[in-house]
Amino acid sequence: MALSVIAEPPAQFDAWRAAQLQKAPVPQSPRLATGEQEFVSYCGICHTVRGTMAGGRLGPDLSHLMSRHTIAAGSLPNTPGYLSGWIADPQHIKPGNLMPMLDLSGPQLAPIRDYLETLK
Ligand code: HEC
Repeated sequence: MALSVIAEPPAQFDAWRAAQLQKAPVPQSPRLATGEQEFVSYCGICHTVRGTMAGGRLGPDLSHLMSRHTIAAGSLPNTPGYLSGWIADPQHIKPGNLMPMLDLSGPQLAPIRDYLETLK
């Protein structure tokens, strides 16, 4: 597990902290609303997104996923490509981790990934 330490002036840190404590943004289109619903159904048992029905605690809180530089405990840069690869097959990327491969099709995963990308 990798850990990044980011040192910031107090005001910048306080702004970051206040933003992290906010609920996740509300979906702004029907496609993103579908992504949120699918996320709650398939992923919410293990992940929390504050402000939604997803309240799982086994995996990381994803309320502000896109504010992170890396995912999977520093294993991957947090880019759309790596994020898609991770949710499609996390065991291939990090064997033995506690997120299972969910066997969702590309068309099922796409709205979920698009929704995740709004979680800034
Ligand atoms: C059975 C529980 C479980 C389910 C279901 C699950 N996850 Fe995860 N997820 C985890 C765990 C545990 C991790 C942490 C893995 C690690 O870094 O070792 C994780 C990590 C992640 C990460 C990386 C977050 C970060 O900051 O490192 C993302 C993104 C993610 N999951 C998305 C999803 C999506 C999208 C779904 C549904 C399609 C999903 N997960 C379903 C358990 C789960």
